[in-house]
Amino acid sequence: MAERRTVLSVVGTRPNMMKIAPIAAELGRRGDEFEHVLVHTGQHYDREMSQIFLEELGVGEPDYLLNVGSGSHAQQTAAVMERLEPVLLEAEPHVVVVPGDVNSTLAAALAAAKLLIPIAHVEAGLRSFDRTMPEEINRLVADQLSQLLFIHSPEARDNLLAEGCAEADIYDVGNTMIDSLVAMSDRIRDARAPEAHGLLRGEYLVVTLHRPALVDGPLLADAVGQLAAISKTLPVVFPVHPRTRAALDSLRIDVSVERLRLIDPVGYVEFLSLVAGSAGVLTDSGGIQEETTYLGLPCFTLRANTERPITVSQGTNTLLGLDPARIAEVPELLAEAGERERQVPTLWDGHAARRIVDVLSRTLGSQPVDQLDVAG
Ligand code: UD1
Ligand code: UDP
Repeated sequence: MAERRTVLSVVGTRPNMMKIAPIAAELGRRGDEFEHVLVHTGQHYDREMSQIFLEELGVGEPDYLLNVGSGSHAQQTAAVMERLEPVLLEAEPHVVVVPGDVNSTLAAALAAAKLLIPIAHVEAGLRSFDRTMPEEINRLVADQLSQLLFIHSPEARDNLLAEGCAEADIYDVGNTMIDSLVAMSDRIRDARAPEAHGLLRGEYLVVTLHRPALVDGPLLADAVGQLAAISKTLPVVFPVHPRTRAALDSLRIDVSVERLRLIDPVGYVEFLSLVAGSAGVLTDSGGIQEETTYLGLPCFTLRANTERPITVSQGTNTLLGLDPARIAEVPELLAEAGERERQVPTLWDGHAARRIVDVLSRTLGSQPVDQLDVAG
């Protein structure tokens, strides 16, 4: 029997877990061929931002927990690199899998590239063309350093080719975040979160906001004011990200409005049960733009741009822009949303992880770094 290949995946934040869980499961099913090592950087560390997802999605405990915690961009990136390097030297993986666009993604890609370990980027090629977003820097660098570029949207290929990436390195495999949604669909359906929260199905709005452009400045108070106003006709449930909670606390924003419910972040099953039962979602999240497109639910994105344009052109997403005044239009836009044609993008079908592991099986040699060209 051929020697097993070691795949090391790096997660750090909430959305990384949904993207890696199906890959971890598929590698586990093919345990005769692969050994999977899971590293959690600890960028997110509150139970409801981290552990709950590993449990719900069946990923289990990470093999290594780096405990980097919060910090400035440079501090966080440097801490991941410093703590990951000895792990990579010990585990000697044939490939390092990095999902998404967070600081842990960038740091892991840099650490692996310097050790000449091949990198697979899951969710490659997304671009907002806005370098004021930290995620855009992380995407650009991670893609340049990766030998396997796993995309889930056709414009990602164009973006990568325009930046000089090789066509042969790009694999259109579908969306692993949607794999998680498909795998968990029965549990999500059975969760009955709207009832548990005393909400009437189809008659409330789910809100999430956490981007620095919106929450780390004066726009947050305006947004909360607008949400309070629309909650009189459309109740709002808003699981608040810790960054946003800190900003609300420091601004002492009054959030005591009866039908505007600010709650702690909730687990994956509860969150998607809330989303699935809602009239629609207002968000600045990346992943939620995709999940709502898959579910066929209206999504209003409070951002100036999106790195996920397919959710607007084919899906259910409407880009509102960054001005919180536009929140006032949401009830009316919701009333029109049902008339819109929509299509789930190709290969968002629950089988992306299998395609990824098939590619790993074909491309990884039997010795670390002996087949994929890391020379660039
Ligand atoms: C990070 C990602 C962002 C992603 C988001 C997903 C970067 C640059 N940003 O943003 O792309 O959309 O995760 O949720 O990587 N905090 C806690 N508990 C936690 C985690 C964070 O209290 O478990 C607080 C801390 O005050 C911290 C702040 O949230 O300073 C921000 O955390 P950080 O990981 O730096 O960025 P996010 O805003 O979470
Ligand atoms: N999510 C969750 N609980 C919440 C908010 C979001 O489980 O309270 C899930 C959501 O369904 C999606 C992921 O977290 O799978 C998105 O994470 P986030 O919005 O933090 O990050 P982004 O996608 O913007 O990077």
